[in-house]
Amino acid sequence: MKILVTGGAGYVGSHCVRLLKSKGHDVWVYDNLLYGHREATDPARLIVGDLLDQPAIEKAMRDHAIEAVMHFAALCYVGESVTDPAKYYRNNVVGTLNLLDAMRACGVGKIVFSSTCATYGVPQQVPIPEDHPQNPISPYGFTKLAVEKALEDYRAAYGIGYAAPRYFNASGASLDGSIGEDHDPETHLIPLVLDVALGKRDHISIFGTDYPTPDGTCIRDYIHVEDLATAHLAAIEKVQPGEAIRVNLGTGVGASVRQVITACEEVTGKKIKTVEGPRRAGDPPELVANPQGALDALGWRAQHTSVKETVASAWAWHKAHPNGYAG
Ligand code: UFG
Repeated sequence: MKILVTGGAGYVGSHCVRLLKSKGHDVWVYDNLLYGHREATDPARLIVGDLLDQPAIEKAMRDHAIEAVMHFAALCYVGESVTDPAKYYRNNVVGTLNLLDAMRACGVGKIVFSSTCATYGVPQQVPIPEDHPQNPISPYGFTKLAVEKALEDYRAAYGIGYAAPRYFNASGASLDGSIGEDHDPETHLIPLVLDVALGKRDHISIFGTDYPTPDGTCIRDYIHVEDLATAHLAAIEKVQPGEAIRVNLGTGVGASVRQVITACEEVTGKKIKTVEGPRRAGDPPELVANPQGALDALGWRAQHTSVKETVASAWAWHKAHPNGYAG
């Protein structure tokens, strides 16, 4: 298949691009390199462009006779989405509408869109099934939900098929250590803890120790980025024009902040200094996927279910690239 991958130079996108290529798909990356890394992708297959430039998207689709789209490009800092929602609605919603309208203009019939468990808001039930109510608590979550709604309306009216995998906490790095997670600024737990192990940070702050969980810290479902890639491959091959697939991508197993820190200590052999702090606004106590829907819809289940294994792959990348792609 000839696939256009927006955000293919970013963290999850770059891992998916590698897998798609290894399976023989003809892949073109469309990325504005605002957060993506040229080094994470094949420069000969990179189109530097922005989703706010619809003519450029259409040109990329026509030039390369694109048949399907994988759409990773988005802004994803929950906190920033609260202080600057305009930026999030413009990039995540308007940018995606441009992409969908370019697909209509060029006759591209299917898309896989990176959605998120943040569309559920504070869950009423854990593990979370796909039919759980979606009540996001941040503008970021709303932008992702708005796109899910647009996808469904575009499917019904124009016949565009879509898959909307809702990621839990994307983590880890490629098992061969060649690509990994490099955000600037970095806000995610695992890379920050590994920065402490590398001596780049003095300590990790634990955001809240009074949650209603066994050790008082938040529980998340850390899904390996290579598992996300296999799910996307299954989704793009499965979904057909006019169809909809909405699935959670998680392991079904939760780990607390303290458990993640312990796993990092075991993997790195370093003692991690922690400082217990207040809760971070907008953090639900527990987000864990019910993974049954993805098994039923895609025949997919996570292969890396131990957080220690996921941390080990992240550590291999971090150790070899202490300054990320810049180093
Ligand atoms: N945490 C700390 N200290 C830190 C950083 C994080 O204690 O320095 C805690 C957080 O409070 C949270 C857990 O570690 O309980 C994981 O935090 P991350 O920031 O790594 O990930 P989130 O669960 O906040 O965010 C992820 C994705 C978002 C998505 C969100 C859905 O990164 O894109 O899940 O809730 F929106």
